[in-house]
Amino acid sequence: MEKNIPEFTVLPKHIGVIMDGNGRWAKQRNLPRYKGHIEGAKTFRKIGEFAAELGIKCMTFYAFSTENWKRPQEEVDAIMQLFREYLNEAEERKEENREKGICLRFIGDRRGIPEDILALMEHIENESRYETKIILNLAINYGGRHEITQGVKKIAQRVLDGELSPEDINEDTLSDSLYTSGIPDPDLIIRPSGEYRLSNFLTWQSAYSEFWFSDVLWPDFTEDDLCKALQDFEKRNRRFGGI
Ligand code: IPE
Ligand code: IPE
Ligand code: MG
Repeated sequence: MEKNIPEFTVLPKHIGVIMDGNGRWAKQRNLPRYKGHIEGAKTFRKIGEFAAELGIKCMTFYAFSTENWKRPQEEVDAIMQLFREYLNEAEERKEENREKGICLRFIGDRRGIPEDILALMEHIENESRYETKIILNLAINYGGRHEITQGVKKIAQRVLDGELSPEDINEDTLSDSLYTSGIPDPDLIIRPSGEYRLSNFLTWQSAYSEFWFSDVLWPDFTEDDLCKALQDFEKRNRRFGGI
């Protein structure tokens, strides 16, 4: 059946999504929290595929922050197990993803991620690297401040090695030192679940992002919710400091 794909006058080049509210979704249903994460992973797939159909070129989904390690070990283990399952599934679906033109990438600090998960991540990234319809970045062990700190360390090392002089450091030098190097800054950041904060997501890159909040919990987030965010985005008057 042909799906009706809505059209928009302006589309964000890059959308960031903070996939929040999985735990509350499960609690509402008297289910263990990990069940919420399972549903959240399904929503990630659904929204990513829909965004590709809409013609959005890049999305970054916040899946696990550098602060989320503070959670009870049982929950961290369940989330890691879910990544494993998701990545194995993505590997099984590689032909389907190829047809859909999905390039899957991961951003975040790879240290600290279990070896087998890391190997799967690298494998999938490598296999999907030539796809051009949409880039789906999954932020795992990601923290904006940590990312900037790592970037600054890399720049400092280049200065020490004599490759770069301090007066040549500019905003592009810093942007290029981040995980998102080469990707435009997010035009739009979506946060569901009724929270109104960034929680260390794309700290540097969000300097001029538009924000869209919703009370919907991430597992309940639908294609229509994404369309609502895009309709609101169309109406935003972005000034970037001008008039
Ligand atoms: C987001 O959902 C997923 C992760 C942070 C891993 P939460 O687990 O934060 O869900 P709530 O905020 O407790 O409902
Ligand atoms: C942000 O959600 C991180 C992810 C969605 C991965 P959190 O649930 O960790 O954020 P806080 O703690 O409510 O700020
Ligand atoms: Mg949360």
